Amino acid sequence: MILVQMLDQSHSYSLSGVYKSPNEKGHCDCQKPKARSCPTSRSEVEILSSSNLKAFSFSELKSATNNFGLESLLGEGGFGFVYKGSIDAATLGAARPEPAMVVAVKKLIPAGFQGHKEWLAEVNFLGQLQHPNLVKLLGYCLEGEDRLLVYEFMARGSLENHLFRRTVPPLSWETRIKVAVGAARGLAILHNSQPEIIYRDFKASNILLDSEFNVKLSDFGLAKEGPTGDRTHVSTLVLGTQGYAAPEYIATGHLTTRCDIYSFGVVLLELLSGRRAIDKTKPRAEEKLVSWARPYLNDKKMFYRIMDSRMEGRYPKTGAYIASTLALQCLCQAKNRPTMSEVVKILERILAVTDTAGASQSAQQSAPSPVGRSTVRSSNPSPLPLSPAESPSPAHSPQPPQQLG
Ligand SMILES: Nc1ncnc2c1ncn2[C@@H]1O[C@H](COP(=O)(O)OP(=O)(O)OP(=O)(O)O)[C@@H](O)[C@H]1O
Ligand SMILES: [Mg+2]
Repeated sequence: MILVQMLDQSHSYSLSGVYKSPNEKGHCDCQKPKARSCPTSRSEVEILSSSNLKAFSFSELKSATNNFGLESLLGEGGFGFVYKGSIDAATLGAARPEPAMVVAVKKLIPAGFQGHKEWLAEVNFLGQLQHPNLVKLLGYCLEGEDRLLVYEFMARGSLENHLFRRTVPPLSWETRIKVAVGAARGLAILHNSQPEIIYRDFKASNILLDSEFNVKLSDFGLAKEGPTGDRTHVSTLVLGTQGYAAPEYIATGHLTTRCDIYSFGVVLLELLSGRRAIDKTKPRAEEKLVSWARPYLNDKKMFYRIMDSRMEGRYPKTGAYIASTLALQCLCQAKNRPTMSEVVKILERILAVTDTAGASQSAQQSAPSPVGRSTVRSSNPSPLPLSPAESPSPAHSPQPPQQLG
C-alpha cells in the first residue's frame, strides 16, 4: 500500500496524497550544529524574525527571475517550480544590471496548510544550520498566498539529472564516490547535531551539485527533530518518496535516523547502478532497485551485475565491492544499519584509494587528471584491503545499456 501505489515516482507525498513540500536550510558554521529550538515550539513570527535570512518582496523576486519566465526555469518538484535568478550581491536586492549574484528561487504552488508548514520548516532549519554539505538559504518571501525561497545556485543541478539522463555524460567512478561522500557527510551532520535532525527525504533529486560536483543537501521541509529523553522514535504521518522510504517507517510511521540511513543505501545503489529507485519502464522483476539488486550485493562474483554499464568497467573492483556491501548494510534491518559517521568513514577510505590510484595512473601516463577527479592525496590512510588496480573487464558485465530517465 502506501506511498507506492498513489505516487508519482519522483516527488514526495504523504499517504493521503498531499504533496510534500520541502525546504529549509540552516546556518551554523561548525561541524556540530549548535543546539536549536524545536521547530514546533517556535512561532512563525519567532522563526522569521530570528533568522539571518533576507525577507524578499514578491516583486523583487519576480524581477530577479525575469517574471518567472520559462527561460529561467531550472526544474519542477512537488513543492513548485525552481527558477534561476539574479540578485545584487551586496544588497541581495534584484540586480539590474550586473554585478549580480546567481540564485535559485523556489516558488511554492499555493497548497494550503501543508505547503506553508513545510515552507516554514525549511526556513526554520536552514535559517539555523550552516555547513558546506547543506545548501545555503539566502532568504524567503511571504506575501499573501505567495511563498518563495531563495537559495545559492548550484551549477550542476541535482544528482538525479546526472545519473539518469541519457543526454548527460555518465559520471565516472571517482565522481560517484565523491558525491556519495559529500551526501553522507551532509546526513551525518544532521544526525550528529543536538538535538539530532532526521532528514526524511533523502533522494537523488535533493542532492545538489556545484560546478566541481561538491554536494549540498536541499529540501528540509520534511525534516524532523529526533526523539528526546527515553523515546526511541518520533511518530509521524508517513511522508517521503516512493522507493526511498524505509520499510519499517512505512509500516509503523516510527521515524528514526535509521530511516535516513536506509534511504542513503538506496541512493548509494543508484550511484553504483545508474538505475532509479523505482523504474516502471523496467521488466517487473527489475522495477524496484532494492529488490532487484539485493541478491547480488554481498557476492564477490556477482556484484558487478548491478554496476552501471555506462562506466564501462572503469572502477576498482575491491572499492566497488565494499561500496556494494555497504549499501546492503544500509538496507538491512534498522537495528543492524551502520551510523552515518561509520558510512562516511568507509566511503572516505574508498575515495582515498580511488584518488591514490588516479594519481599513480596519471603519473605513469603523464596525462592530465580526468574531469571530476577529486584532489589527489599524498598518502593512503585506508586500512581497508582496497586494490584499485583490480577492475572487472567490461566484457564481464552482462548489463545492457540501461534505458533510464
Ligand atoms: N539551489 C539550486 N540550484 C540549482 N538548481 C536547483 C536548486 N534547487 C533546485 N534546483 C533544481 O530544481 C529541480 C527541482 O527541485 P525541487 O526540490 O523543487 O524538486 P525535486 O527535488 O525534484 O522533487 P521534490 O519536490 O520531491 O523535492 C531540482 O531537481 C534541481 O534540478
Ligand atoms: Mg527537492
